[in-house]
Amino acid sequence: MRASLKDNSTDVHNSSAPTEFVPVSSPAHIAVVARLARDIWYEHYVPLIGRPRVDYMVSRFQTAPAIEAQIGDGYEYFLVARDGRHLGYLAVQEQHAERMFISKLYVTKEARGTGTGRACMEFIEQTARSRGLSRLWLTVSKRNPAVQAYERLGFRIAEPIVMDIGGGFVMDDFRMERDLN
Ligand SMILES: CC(C)(COP(=O)(O)OP(=O)(O)OC[C@H]1O[C@@H](n2cnc3c(N)ncnc32)[C@H](O)[C@@H]1OP(=O)(O)O)[C@@H](O)C(=O)NCCC(=O)NCCS
Repeated sequence: MRASLKDNSTDVHNSSAPTEFVPVSSPAHIAVVARLARDIWYEHYVPLIGRPRVDYMVSRFQTAPAIEAQIGDGYEYFLVARDGRHLGYLAVQEQHAERMFISKLYVTKEARGTGTGRACMEFIEQTARSRGLSRLWLTVSKRNPAVQAYERLGFRIAEPIVMDIGGGFVMDDFRMERDLN
């Protein structure tokens, strides 16, 4: 898989090509994830949580060095690609008690609503099952429409959680989970 992005203007909705999940480890792929992250986070989150918080979160968690450090800490990043285009990225972390934490799941605006998120979740589910894990979980901003998408994907709200992420910012989230049994 080449690290360069094709022009995304071609209609991704009409592609019947399979969705691919490319493990991220090389600096070139990390740079692609960082670029996707910047594009998606500013487009999606500024209206939801405001620019100062997005500035803080992108600079703290989604620069190339930050992503590289997370990979070193056991987070597994994957680029989501279809028909040679990068449509987003995801990151998971295998945890104790047979759990898999979905740390990141971000699809470009153009590729949303085309089954990409569902394909990502099926990939995550298969990966978790192949490792004998029995539960998926994630956190999501209460105001994010992704809550409804996750519900359609079989997750339920487990509890509200308030997280101090530093920089004077607090996340007002839901923890959502899905049993695989
Ligand atoms: C959340 C996200 C990953 C879902 O990906 P997607 O490609 O849009 O999802 P799909 O097209 O595969 O849809 C999956 C299911 O969720 C539903 N869904 C998707 N977006 C929805 C929304 N905004 N409201 C209600 N349901 C929604 C779909 O109808 C579908 O259900 P169905 O198959 O039963 O009809 C994607 O919208 C995204 O990246 N959003 C921006 C970034 C983000 O917020 N990420 C989550 C961070 S925690």
